[in-house]
Amino acid sequence: MNIDLLKSVANAIVARQKGVLAADESSPTIKKRFDTIKVESTEENRRRYREIMFSADGIERYVGGVILFEETLRQSTRDGTPFPKLLASRGIIPGIKVDKGAKPLALCPGDRVTEGLDGLRERLAEYKKLGAQFAKWRAVIDIDEHGIPSAYGIRANAHSLARYAALCQEADLVPIVEPEVLMDGTHDIGRCEIVTARTLEAVFAELDAHHVVFEGMLLKPNMVIAGKKCPQQAGVQEVAEATLRCLRRYVPSAVPGIVFLSGGQSAEDATDHLNAMNAMGPQPWQVSFSYGRALQAPVLAAWQGQENNAEAAQKALLKRCHLNGLARDGQYSRVMEDAS
Ligand code: 13P
Repeated sequence: MNIDLLKSVANAIVARQKGVLAADESSPTIKKRFDTIKVESTEENRRRYREIMFSADGIERYVGGVILFEETLRQSTRDGTPFPKLLASRGIIPGIKVDKGAKPLALCPGDRVTEGLDGLRERLAEYKKLGAQFAKWRAVIDIDEHGIPSAYGIRANAHSLARYAALCQEADLVPIVEPEVLMDGTHDIGRCEIVTARTLEAVFAELDAHHVVFEGMLLKPNMVIAGKKCPQQAGVQEVAEATLRCLRRYVPSAVPGIVFLSGGQSAEDATDHLNAMNAMGPQPWQVSFSYGRALQAPVLAAWQGQENNAEAAQKALLKRCHLNGLARDGQYSRVMEDAS
């Protein structure tokens, strides 16, 4: 394990103004996204969509890393440049989603656990050869009114995340550790804070037990936020305060950066929340973004699968990257949405 390399890659991903573009939708997920704009999910449409994003002018100022799905890691631009090479040539670090998705946890109705550890060491060696410098594994933690998540459900996911992270560091790949407490459901912000706290506590205990070096990883958590169907939605300041309170209690300061997922928030809300946290002053870690939907929803809407909309789609991506780059330094304000 080359700790200096891990540290320098982790720090470069969250350098000033920068965050992560999560473009690692699995085949079923990208199909769902394409369905919303009535575009067929063919290999060529997926390739072209990603090519439009990765070649957008100016995004390299705000995007330190891009997470790819395995298919995309092996794809190329029209002129034959492999995507990892294109990104690296623009100063953007290529990464790879390596988990195989969440499945029901046996004998624990309602809990899910993420699979993909078998053969992971060999896959990581191959991804590294293809140009990946970091990886991502997403654990999902559901919340319901009947005691989900169970303590065991949290522990099982924390254990898998730690085994994944250790394998990544062994292979000199920076692990992005993503325990996502879902914002589906009717729970209030208080319940989200309790579940997020229990989750982060378990995740860092397991990472430590697995000898993971905190300085060479990034954390990708949910924000502490009310469930989408909760009648009492929290305000921007409340979300920022609850999220930072929770993270400051459970995330060691040795971790170089926190890169939030957007989790189903609107693009504007995700930017607003990130900004409010950064406006609260310096934190022990960089506080940035690793958004999927909150960066890409406007891109899909502009593109519509039409070649003559490619430039508009790139502009939409640059706008969101720019605004999140500002939010990442506490310099964003909602009025900029119309101005830019
Ligand atoms: P969202 O920002 O759409 O939640 O996606 C981030 C991600 O990578 C989920 O694994």
